[in-house]
Amino acid sequence: MILSIESSCDDSAIAITEIETKKLVFHKKISQEVEHSIYGGVVPELAARLHAEALPKILEQVKPYYKDLKAVAVTSSPGLAVTLVEGVTMAKAIAIALNLPIIGVNHLIGHIYSLFIEKETVFPLTVLLVSGGHTQVMEVKSLHEITTVAKSMDDSFGESFDKVAKMMGLGYPGGPLIQKLAQDGDRLKYNFTVPLHQSPQIAFSYSGLKNAVRLAVEEAGDNKELYRDIAASFEHIATKHITMKLKKYFKSHPPKRLAIVGGASANLYLRGQIQEILKPYGAELLLSELQYCSDNAAMIGRVAVELFQERSFIKIADLDILPKSSL
Ligand code: KG4
Ligand code: ZN
Repeated sequence: MILSIESSCDDSAIAITEIETKKLVFHKKISQEVEHSIYGGVVPELAARLHAEALPKILEQVKPYYKDLKAVAVTSSPGLAVTLVEGVTMAKAIAIALNLPIIGVNHLIGHIYSLFIEKETVFPLTVLLVSGGHTQVMEVKSLHEITTVAKSMDDSFGESFDKVAKMMGLGYPGGPLIQKLAQDGDRLKYNFTVPLHQSPQIAFSYSGLKNAVRLAVEEAGDNKELYRDIAASFEHIATKHITMKLKKYFKSHPPKRLAIVGGASANLYLRGQIQEILKPYGAELLLSELQYCSDNAAMIGRVAVELFQERSFIKIADLDILPKSSL
């Protein structure tokens, strides 16, 4: 079995995965949403302190599996430097104490493999990753053949939901809060401009839309009734930005299979709209189980099974965090 640890942002999680069967034997996650909520976003130093409390608590519960472990895996890139260190330090301590090899896992590859928890992999695959840190499209042929074809030039899709929720004083994380508020709103009430709609470039940008929403919120003032329409119109345009760029991309790269992964892949409006643009191609839509869309250690364990099988271990002293690495 492999023990895997995730601490790249505000979720402390540990999983145990059986190598041969890929079965998820144990998974526990402690989220810090409540603690960060009053700040309207993740406070890195607070997150690090909370990981230092939560990870040892979860580790207590997996002690019965120590005798069955063949390796320790940990998210080492990308993420917040101060929180990645918490997981990596713990992984190194376990590896030394139990004399096990260590495996460093890229968090973004983790999100891709959230599709394959307790399952075999399916490739080739076009992947849309939408999370708090990333908005990008990748062509994935295998674990080691991942090509990024589009990414955000500034804010990410999930981050823009967090920022809009903060402007409205709703709390954190903003995605589920905005989605709920938008349900009964008028999606066409506010005519926000679709980012980069005139640009031939296949890329994403959310800072302009965020600023347009800020003006609308300011204009609404105390009239909170309008927040529903602002949220609905924002969600509509944020999603339309993605579907317009994907449609453009599909013209030269017709999709066979498209997966949406990452915390914001839980968004129902986005899922529905993407399903629509796949129809003309008869392409299949793949999604992770809802509980594995947001950050977790099961996806890290699933990547680690592949890396274990090819003996991709790293010397303990050589395992460094790479907070800004990308795919
Ligand atoms: O993947 P994740 O858990 O963490 C990162 O790796 O960043 O993604 C968290 C992000 C947050 O920005 C959160 O607001 C967003 O995913 N999110 C959503 C929804 N649920 C979570 N965004 C839009 N709609 C949702 N339903
Ligand atoms: Zn993530």
